[in-house]
Amino acid sequence: MGSDVAAAKSGINARQRLRNSVLHSILTGGPALLRNTHSGVLATTAVDRIEALDGFFARWIPASVLWMAAPLIILIPVYVVSPQAALVLGLCGLTVPFCQAIFGIGAAVASRNQFLAMTRLQARFLDRVKGIATIVLAGRTEDETRRLAGAAEELRLRTMKVLRVAFLSSASIDCAMVVALIVLATLTGAHALAQKEAGAHSLLEPMLRNGLFVLIVIPEFFAPLRSMALAYQDRAHAQGAATAILDLPDPVVPAVLPEGTRTVTANGVTVALDDVCFTWDPARGPALQNISFTVPAGETLILAGESGSGKSTIMELLLGFITPDSGRVLLNGAPLETLVPDSLCRMISWIGQKPVLFAGSLRDNVLFASPDADEESLQAALKAAAVDEFLPLLPNGLETMIGEGGFGLSGGQAQRIAIARAYLKNAPVLLLDEPTAHLDPLTEKSVFLSLQRLAAQKTVILATHSAAAHMLNGRRIDLQRGVIVSRQGAA
Ligand SMILES: Nc1ncnc2c1ncn2[C@@H]1O[C@H](COP(=O)(O)OP(=O)(O)OP(=O)(O)O)[C@@H](O)[C@H]1O
Ligand SMILES: [Mg+2]
Repeated sequence: MGSDVAAAKSGINARQRLRNSVLHSILTGGPALLRNTHSGVLATTAVDRIEALDGFFARWIPASVLWMAAPLIILIPVYVVSPQAALVLGLCGLTVPFCQAIFGIGAAVASRNQFLAMTRLQARFLDRVKGIATIVLAGRTEDETRRLAGAAEELRLRTMKVLRVAFLSSASIDCAMVVALIVLATLTGAHALAQKEAGAHSLLEPMLRNGLFVLIVIPEFFAPLRSMALAYQDRAHAQGAATAILDLPDPVVPAVLPEGTRTVTANGVTVALDDVCFTWDPARGPALQNISFTVPAGETLILAGESGSGKSTIMELLLGFITPDSGRVLLNGAPLETLVPDSLCRMISWIGQKPVLFAGSLRDNVLFASPDADEESLQAALKAAAVDEFLPLLPNGLETMIGEGGFGLSGGQAQRIAIARAYLKNAPVLLLDEPTAHLDPLTEKSVFLSLQRLAAQKTVILATHSAAAHMLNGRRIDLQRGVIVSRQGAA
């Protein structure tokens, strides 16, 4: 009982540590990770796969230590009473780890396949739920239901395979135990008969007593081996679960900073790219080639170019989520990778196409990046971002619950909350990746007005197709398939 509690506790601790490191990896990977990994897959990795490791920590590690010791301790008295019985029991016991090793390979493969099927089902389900309107309008409901049922059936078949291997592995132990029982019962019987025929009646009783003792301890001898076999299944299951965790990028450990780490003065940051090349996928060619530009502190650079020309890739380089294959990203002359990660976060505000609103009050959402901001700065941010224009329309004003399951906001309203957030954060560098992509011209114009106020005194890089971009006047670069084709201003 005590050992169970200790094992469960160590399991909980180990999973907590592992989950922290997985979450850290996911956060470090940032949007670059989301470009090639489904969010459903990441969720499964952080939740289900870590849960599946419980058996490994709580059962396999203790069992792997105990399984050798316990049967050996039982073998000692058996050896004292009957060396022959100890030999038979030892030999039968030895077959167990061999069988486990063989079934273990099958169990690991079956578990890995089961996890793949489960991940596929979860990712598909999440996708279809997100796109339910498209599916219904395209008249594809039955089709999609059938496909989901197919994925569920695949998961069922693979789960049955895991169970089959587990059943066979436990049956192999029962076989070994039955063989030991039959051999030892027969041997004891044969000896007893031989003694009786030889007329040695006085030896008969101790012999039968010893034989009975050996037969009674057989189940005890196999009990730890059985726990080991069960734990071995857990180990195989954990192996299957661990593969996806290993595929995640290594978490950045901020404690060990590269030599020459420094911070950059918070007011006035010059941003520059120096001959940067970057390739996402060698099969598709480079996404950026020899990109160089400088944006002096407090100025604005507009990145223009058709879809797929590499604007968002430049943003991700500046955010430090990806590193250039060659060339350097410089902030005030310091290469990005030599900066303390925390200071980089403090220096940069980023607003994308679709702001993320978390479930919570509007106030919590605006205060997200600066929870300690006072009421006065909050009001100033709301005013500058023009949130105060639609605030009276909300049922509870600043306390209205928004985000998932809360009050719905329009794209323009949500974008204003993102602007208010950036206003409060007041970082010297502002990265805007098509902040008005989904807005009508009128809303777009008023969002640009708010951005204009936000951009004052800041170094701004704005990726956009919008004609209204001229409202943030500055230098301009036109990109085409990852190459700069024209420059305006001093960029
Ligand atoms: N994870 C990825 N793997 C492979 N290729 C990628 C990946 N992410 C982006 N790309 C490719 O890199 C190129 C640049 O993409 P990027 O998202 O930077 O374009 P963009 O200019 O921001 O486009 P848009 O205006 O549509 O946002 C595109 O050809 C795109 O297909
Ligand atoms: Mg983009």
